[in-house]
Amino acid sequence: MVEQILITAGDVTASEILIDPGVIAAPRPAVFLPKSERRRRVAILTQPTVADCARDIARAIGDAYETGVHVVPDREAAKTFAVAEQTVAWMNSLGLTRHDTIIGIGGGAVTDLAGFVAATYLRGVEAVLVPTTLLGAVDAAIGGKTAVNVDGKNLVGVFRHPSRVVIDTETLASLPRDILREGAAEALKAGLIADVELVELYERHGLDAPLADVVSRAVRVKAQVVSDDFEEHAGRAILNYGHTIGHGVETVAGLAHGHAVAVGMVAAGEVSTQLCGFAENARQRAVIEQLGLPTSAPGVDREAVLRSVALDKKRDEHGLRMVLLEEIGAPIVAPVDADAVDVGLAAIGLG
Ligand code: GLY
Repeated sequence: MVEQILITAGDVTASEILIDPGVIAAPRPAVFLPKSERRRRVAILTQPTVADCARDIARAIGDAYETGVHVVPDREAAKTFAVAEQTVAWMNSLGLTRHDTIIGIGGGAVTDLAGFVAATYLRGVEAVLVPTTLLGAVDAAIGGKTAVNVDGKNLVGVFRHPSRVVIDTETLASLPRDILREGAAEALKAGLIADVELVELYERHGLDAPLADVVSRAVRVKAQVVSDDFEEHAGRAILNYGHTIGHGVETVAGLAHGHAVAVGMVAAGEVSTQLCGFAENARQRAVIEQLGLPTSAPGVDREAVLRSVALDKKRDEHGLRMVLLEEIGAPIVAPVDADAVDVGLAAIGLG
């Protein structure tokens, strides 16, 4: 059965998320492409690890549309201006017009790139995103943040919703456990900020929690937050729980994003305990450990993490703020000082 979750902007639908188990193995064109009278061509962007799936989808829609497949590098190597430029040149050679569609099939880096070129090519063409990692399905592909990395992660990008996101939970269930674990950090984050039943699912089942439930619940959290505050003027910031110190650790130690978020949540949990009486820190830590995610960052250069966190501060006119929990499901965004950051760093072994 296909589950539909909508992101809204006022009274209108801004983006539609379809959760359709098995749709990648047996692609149905109507799932991947919203109705359009004027579309003639479809440009598919993908990465080497899932290029075969992308070609199957291209064959399935190839009867109705002129379709091309372009393979970009795996992971963050895809998110550069150079790759964006090559991709745009390829789309142009395909004759893609404003009425046509780009489909991004892959992990978060591919869907970020696809969203970015779709938002900027001819000042904007339709994007459809098909995340093939759990992290992409519950976070990166949802909510219209597009970007490439220049100097810093996600330094250049625009807010623009994909018209549709297609998630195949059967494909996600076949992922290696390490990739599932990485995504579980972002799914757990969604539970910690807004859905205690999602936290309970992970407490009961660990990494074997049923993906249909995990994805549906995490996507619903994100869809609600983004519907309320698309361009992150206020409320969307709660999605950054665990990201302030987590990003610092990710940048300095080169940790995978999900692992860095797990470490960042441990830090934020301790700061929450000290500043706002968060009484469930041990529970949060236990579920992070149960998922096999890291809870500390031993040996990482503390001063370099501090510099990276300070860089975030410089970009925010309000000074450094962190997402903290009063309780599970009750986040706040609070100004924090250097002492609070020290508390967070000490909790992850950087005292
Ligand atoms: N990944 C955080 C956000 O989409 O706002």
